[in-house]
Amino acid sequence: MRLDYDRIAEGYDAQPYRNKSADPDLAEFLRARPDLGLKGPSVLDAGCGTGNQLVANRPCWPHARFAGLDPFRGMLRSALSKSRDIAWIRGDGADLPFHSATFDFAINQFSFHHVMRKRRMLGEIRRVLRPGGRFVMSNIDPWAMADSPLYAYFPEALEADRRDFMKPAAIEEGLREAGFPDVVSSSARLPVVQTLRQFAGAVRERASCSQLLTISDEAYQAGLRRLGGDLSRPGGAEGKLESAVVLIRIRADAR
Ligand SMILES: C[S@@+](CC[C@H](N)C(=O)[O-])C[C@H]1O[C@@H](n2cnc3c(N)ncnc32)[C@H](O)[C@@H]1O
Repeated sequence: MRLDYDRIAEGYDAQPYRNKSADPDLAEFLRARPDLGLKGPSVLDAGCGTGNQLVANRPCWPHARFAGLDPFRGMLRSALSKSRDIAWIRGDGADLPFHSATFDFAINQFSFHHVMRKRRMLGEIRRVLRPGGRFVMSNIDPWAMADSPLYAYFPEALEADRRDFMKPAAIEEGLREAGFPDVVSSSARLPVVQTLRQFAGAVRERASCSQLLTISDEAYQAGLRRLGGDLSRPGGAEGKLESAVVLIRIRADAR
């Protein structure tokens, strides 16, 4: 297991970037399927965490049936405290506890790197989708983020990410093998400009960055020492760090 989310479930939503708005991918899917929009689609969030995406969706699609699945009780407890009108289910994305052809639409957001049996999960997603259903995966792409200061100061985090994140092309191939003939992917590069002082403030909040929780305490402390050395140089703290977060989105349609 990459990370025990029960350890951090309580503080998980404290990060401002955890907020979500209603899913634009679900909106796009239903625009093309107005019949389903009226009837109410059946939607799965596999790796739902504290449930923010489905909770944000609820008011927009009152007739939809939403199910969020996650292996960690602490994350699901937080999800349940936000909505009792959504089915929160404990389980592994690679062994979905649902009948075949149960859902019209499925998502997996920022969690595929945590799944051990990744190819099996892609097959499971295909199994539980109905013909005409859609799967959308979103995540960061560490393979395109080698210039990140996080990796410069904490190189073990890059090693861990390269172990746990599949390259987007391999995910696409895995989806085709799982039985999705139509797979489309896109990526967006979001520039990040910060001072070394701001970066140091962020990484000292270790629990706010799951990548720093995946490395050993020794590796984390060694990174902080490297950072401390650069901060103490004249002008070092105000030095500008320019990098980018690369987001990928992979859409797969079932026939
Ligand atoms: C970074 S969080 C993302 C949560 C949520 N999707 C979001 O965007 O806020 C990663 C999630 O993946 C979940 N996870 C870990 N292993 C999993 C598995 N085998 N199957 C499904 N989800 C898993 C974790 O419990 C955690 O809630």
